[in-house]
Amino acid sequence: MRIAMIGSGYVGLVSGSCFADFGHHVVCVDADPQKIADLERGKVPIFEPGLPELLEANVRAGRLTFSTNTREAVRGADVVFIAVGTPSRRGDGHADLSYVYAAAREIAPGLREQTVVVTKSTVPVGTGDEVERIISERRPDARVSVVSNPEFLREGAAIRDFKHPDRIVIGTSEPRAREIMNELYRPLYLNAAPILFTGRRTAELIKYAANSFLATKITFINEIADLCEQVGADVQEVAHGIGLDNRIGTKFLHAGPGFGGSCFPKDLNALIKTGQDHGTPLRLVETVASTNDTRKRAMARKVAALFGGNLRGLEIALLGLTFKPNTDDMRDAPSIALTVALQDLGANVRAYDPVGIPQAKKVLDDVHYYDDAYACAAGADALVIVTEWEQFRALDLERLRNVVRQPFLIDLRNIYPVEEVERFNFAYVSIGRRSALGSDLDTWTAGPKTENHHVAMR
Ligand SMILES: NC(=O)c1ccc[n+]([C@@H]2O[C@H](COP(=O)([O-])OP(=O)(O)OC[C@H]3O[C@@H](n4cnc5c(N)ncnc54)[C@H](O)[C@@H]3O)[C@@H](O)[C@H]2O)c1
Repeated sequence: MRIAMIGSGYVGLVSGSCFADFGHHVVCVDADPQKIADLERGKVPIFEPGLPELLEANVRAGRLTFSTNTREAVRGADVVFIAVGTPSRRGDGHADLSYVYAAAREIAPGLREQTVVVTKSTVPVGTGDEVERIISERRPDARVSVVSNPEFLREGAAIRDFKHPDRIVIGTSEPRAREIMNELYRPLYLNAAPILFTGRRTAELIKYAANSFLATKITFINEIADLCEQVGADVQEVAHGIGLDNRIGTKFLHAGPGFGGSCFPKDLNALIKTGQDHGTPLRLVETVASTNDTRKRAMARKVAALFGGNLRGLEIALLGLTFKPNTDDMRDAPSIALTVALQDLGANVRAYDPVGIPQAKKVLDDVHYYDDAYACAAGADALVIVTEWEQFRALDLERLRNVVRQPFLIDLRNIYPVEEVERFNFAYVSIGRRSALGSDLDTWTAGPKTENHHVAMR
């Protein structure tokens, strides 16, 4: 089959190269000429494990090409995917559909008689109807089917997720479109991926409901973590204890600094707006979104509590900036709100991230960047693990202990067992677990201290 993928970002590039790998012929289109020029030179504009190899292999096999010319790319296509961004609209938090509608207008002239147009972008209920209207207004001659096929891949594991999805959701009521979508995803039947055919509006809603539910799980365990800290319980054991119940499941029960990223925050906001617009406010989702928002700044206060609430003049080192490991994506990363809140409390913020620094520089001001964790830690008053990159799970704690100015380790991802850190005489604070106070801390500390200094320690 011939596919045109409109939008070559995280979703478009991964989906496009995976479809090419299935044997289809794919043109990945983007409005950004620099992105396309880079891709044509073999330079991959995003960090996603395995993607450079997959792109290269399929370009070499002649199944994958890149273009800025939408009309040309669409002309020969059996299926046209719309995979452009749907960020939060400034001002009201609704999904900004201007890129989706622009793409619909741009593809219309090139569409063939029976092309299937598939919205892969995450779009609010009813967007498919509008895409259909835009196209049929411009092409009353063509029998174009507009299908919803939301994407569930996770950055950092995107290729695996695309090739081994838990399910494929396809929203259409047209038998012909259904047949073509079946054919498109046929290689995945071998992996026994269930295809769920639904109405178009239902498919659109499934994506938002899924993300909102996952975000709710995270927020739930984060609140339980806060309670654990007050009552002397361990959130990881609580999560394990409830997760073993099949009705609950173990996934998305990791307490942390609050969710961020390119999808959850904006998708929750969009769903909240959809609910309000239809007179059915989603109170639970509204609470999850606002609870999560306040949590990120609260993480800065957690750091400050170790220093009597005042971080003026202190060097705070952040390890990890991207919203999760194995991506360079900084969109709505918790590190952004955390950095600003730490700076508001007077801290000098420095940071290291394995791949995210170029993106971080675009969104964070007044941060000093370092080339590795140890350089970043040298002379720091506190180390904060913000993103659980694999390399932070095996830090040489002795080496770190020797280079820091004060031995405070705040682990917002709970990646270390408390006892292990204790052995190196760090004062260790994590989320929803017992804290450890380094035994010789009083002789070590040089920064401002008050009687509140040990308040957070237990
Ligand atoms: N990133 C994820 O993990 C993920 C997962 C599932 C679903 N989604 C959804 O997929 C959609 C795309 O997300 P993303 O992260 O890939 O976004 P992205 O910002 O990485 O990529 C979007 C791309 O579309 C291009 N573009 C915009 N308008 C265009 C046009 N008219 N013609 C051609 N190109 C155009 C942009 O230049 C950009 O390169 C969003 O709706 C998102 O919610 C994302």
